[in-house]
Amino acid sequence: GDVAVVVPAAGAGVRLGPGAPKALRLLDGESLLVHAIRRTAAAPSVRMIVVAAPPADVDAVHALLSPIAPVVVVAGGAERQDSVSAALAVVPDDIGIVLVHDAARCLAPADLFERVAAAVRDGADAVIPAQPVVDTIKEVDVDGVVLGTVDRSVLRAVQTPQGFRASVLRAAHAAAADLYTDDAGAVEKLGRPVICVPGSDFALKVTRPLDLALAAHLLTLEA
Ligand code: CTP
Ligand code: MG
Repeated sequence: GDVAVVVPAAGAGVRLGPGAPKALRLLDGESLLVHAIRRTAAAPSVRMIVVAAPPADVDAVHALLSPIAPVVVVAGGAERQDSVSAALAVVPDDIGIVLVHDAARCLAPADLFERVAAAVRDGADAVIPAQPVVDTIKEVDVDGVVLGTVDRSVLRAVQTPQGFRASVLRAAHAAAADLYTDDAGAVEKLGRPVICVPGSDFALKVTRPLDLALAAHLLTLEA
């Protein structure tokens, strides 16, 4: 493999409700992070995996994941962006492609990693898996009065893994002055092109309790 995968897994999971950090919560008896790393490690392109864990759980996460795949575990930061930067800092310079993948997208399949990595290998600086938006989207004012209907055909809902030429991702993170909810946003700010590849329904992000129920069902559908 020629790819390093950086896995931000240090979030609290506030929207999931009270409990352990989200990456350590269970789905069918295993943590979301274990599910995520098993699928990450199954992608043939992957040479190295770096996990950004909750700072108090670095050793526990290393022990949890070592039976599944060789991983490097670092302490995450206060914001997702800080966690990605901390993990990126330990990726060696001789790895030219870096994927960033949310632990919360714990069922993202190995073939999605391959699709994203292949597009970077083919020359793209930044690649994101994207899906069409299914709902009608309205723009509203602060009082909830509708200002207009957005043309949904030009919108995409974006997932991870997102793939980058390593030098481009490092430059984007070094230059990032604002907070970004995804890494491609920081690359866009540099004025570099970002391209889409088809996403996967299995790459949904476990965010709210309903998503855990959906993920449990998706587990039963995996090929
Ligand atoms: N993440 C991280 N470090 C942070 C915040 C988030 O590594 N300081 C990670 C999460 O662990 C998750 C991914 O970034 O895998 C996407 O974030 P999100 O879904 O928002 O997870 P949480 O921040 O944990 O959830 P919430 O916002 O509901 O607290
Ligand atoms: Mg969050």
